[in-house]
Amino acid sequence: STTPTSLITIFGATGDLAKRKLYPSLYHLFRKGKISKRFAVVGVARREWSNEEFQEHVKTSVHKALGSDENIDEFVSHFYYQPNDVSNSDSYKALKNLSDELDETYELEGNRVFYLAMAPEFFGTITEQLKNQGLTDTKGFQRLVIEKPFGHDLPSAEKLNSQIRESFSEDQIYRIDHYLGKEMVQNIEVIRFSNAMFEPLWNNRYISNIQVTSSEELGVEDRGRYYEKSGALRDMVQNHLLQMVALLAMEPPIKLTTDEIRSEKVRVLRSLRPFQQDEVKDYFVRGQYGPGKAGNEALPGYREAENVDDQSNTETYVAGKLMIDNFRWAGVPFYIRTGKRMETKSTKIVIQFKDIPMNLYYNPDKPLAPNLLVIHIQPEEGITLHLNVKKSGQNIETTPVKLNFANNSVDGMNTPEAYEKLLFDCLRGDATNFTHWDEVKLSWAFVDKISEVWEHTRDGEFPNYEAGSMGPKAADNLLAKDGFSWWPIA
Ligand code: BG6
Repeated sequence: STTPTSLITIFGATGDLAKRKLYPSLYHLFRKGKISKRFAVVGVARREWSNEEFQEHVKTSVHKALGSDENIDEFVSHFYYQPNDVSNSDSYKALKNLSDELDETYELEGNRVFYLAMAPEFFGTITEQLKNQGLTDTKGFQRLVIEKPFGHDLPSAEKLNSQIRESFSEDQIYRIDHYLGKEMVQNIEVIRFSNAMFEPLWNNRYISNIQVTSSEELGVEDRGRYYEKSGALRDMVQNHLLQMVALLAMEPPIKLTTDEIRSEKVRVLRSLRPFQQDEVKDYFVRGQYGPGKAGNEALPGYREAENVDDQSNTETYVAGKLMIDNFRWAGVPFYIRTGKRMETKSTKIVIQFKDIPMNLYYNPDKPLAPNLLVIHIQPEEGITLHLNVKKSGQNIETTPVKLNFANNSVDGMNTPEAYEKLLFDCLRGDATNFTHWDEVKLSWAFVDKISEVWEHTRDGEFPNYEAGSMGPKAADNLLAKDGFSWWPIA
């Protein structure tokens, strides 16, 4: 199937996200014939570029990301550039004229997608101008795609939301969480709801705990300015990790429609056990990397990075224990962790099943391994089931085995894959894999409780983990208190 015809206006057209993800994704869709031939893209940014300069930029970006450029000239011939000063209404008048012209030339039926791939402080102004200058007043659809961060905490997210809601209704807003575009994140529901052998066991009678890890090898790189004010909790937990937890814990939706799925996810977020300020330390652990090593290479600490305070109190690592207080999950901890400059780049979910009621194969030297279901999100994509079988030979002894399924992870990590899917969904008008305001609101409310405490107390131990390690010791204690430990993810 192809998408409906549409004009795609990208604010932040000269920026990093557009270059690394959006142009390569659009090109992929174009190559696969998934995008209507009747499309046009307007790149908007401050720089005074010509159409030709912009088209060259798009070509380079596609080439760099994909290494192939078949039909690239035809592809970039759909790209136009409009210099813009975000707060100047004349800029929007010019943009409107260009948009109306393209609408006619390409027969776009008044369909418009506005993609804000830029700093969130301008979201409010841009959406207001789009409406006031009549850019949203067309006979087709109007959709707004916005990137994170969606606010900094609940009050700022609410403010931002009410600003954009002046110009776009909730069902026109597509809030990106790129984890929701990942193949194996989308697979969580399918694994759960299409297999008779999992869903009956998917509760507190059979599952002892669930562990979600998203570790990164990279440090803060050149994003010090943003990251100092964000930290791992806002950068990763508020969105990506809580989204994965919601998909793991939700009840089966009655239908696979956007509204039904979202309302089940919202119910999970509503069931997250809230805690008092003095309980935060019992549930959450923070870390910041100091200098360390990867192989023989020396790695600098977080405080040495550009635009980072040399006494910074910002966390680059978070581990937490979430309790979901509903019938299905009462008593089952969901452990989450994420960090920069860890040993390996990996996103994995481990579902640990409870021990069988009685162990017939008791061996004091070798306890029976619990059954695990591991969902590999990246870099590998697939699932592994850990079982026990008989060890071959005379005696009845058990040995653990792994049943493996590897999804064809065609292009590996950091491909435009997720963005490609999300762009396609947006053009088709499917908002299932985008975050609804209710989800954003609830996850900020949860995360704010933690950041309120962390921001007002310095962590005297920072830095408390070495770059290239698996995080601070305290994260192990968090599980040890409950009699568990992190399963290795490497
Ligand atoms: C982004 C964060 O949302 O996700 C980054 O802002 C992080 O700090 C990135 O590096 C991780 O995404 P992925 O797809 O590489 O796991």
